[in-house]
Amino acid sequence: MTHRTQTPDSVASQPPSKKDRPAGKCLLSRRNFLFTSGVATATVMVTVGSGASAHEIPAMVATYPRKKIAKLSALKDDEPLDFEYPDEGAYAQSMLVKLGTEAGGGVGPRKDVVAFNNFCTHQGGDLAGTYKADTKSMGACPLHLSTYDLTRHGILISGQAYQSLPQVLLELKGDDIYAVGVFGLIFGRYDNLQG
Ligand code: FES
Repeated sequence: MTHRTQTPDSVASQPPSKKDRPAGKCLLSRRNFLFTSGVATATVMVTVGSGASAHEIPAMVATYPRKKIAKLSALKDDEPLDFEYPDEGAYAQSMLVKLGTEAGGGVGPRKDVVAFNNFCTHQGGDLAGTYKADTKSMGACPLHLSTYDLTRHGILISGQAYQSLPQVLLELKGDDIYAVGVFGLIFGRYDNLQG
């Protein structure tokens, strides 16, 4: 049987266990940081361990801008609304649509209002204007025909892409709809907030 020796350095480089994580902080592992696609981060010091073994380590906390994009009462089923998020840089064009049917990540009384980035995850084909009301999908992409299901977080239905369409995360406050984040990496960016 082989035993691994843990040096102080190797111990320090390991992520804290679940029970050591402070409540109320979004502590991102390398895997989760990559998964959330390089959202804006601020470095904060968090305490791990307790008693004499307690010590502080730097941790990354994810943040996105909060942007008001529409009024719920003004939306009509299957009539997309264009907006830009998370900034006004390249590939930020996105669309909000009230599907008229419940969808993953949907907001509103029927959980049917969703928003997605407009650019195909394959090679950046522009999907603006390709929303299909009958199938609640985006596409086919003008370049290689990828099509995405907007009721299921933009998952690929068919075509050359292998990643879902980035979904703009929404929040509803009263009648106001806010964009508050992006799930998935926007095409052409190594970091969603570096447009
Ligand atoms: S760029 Fe859209 S399928 Fe290739």
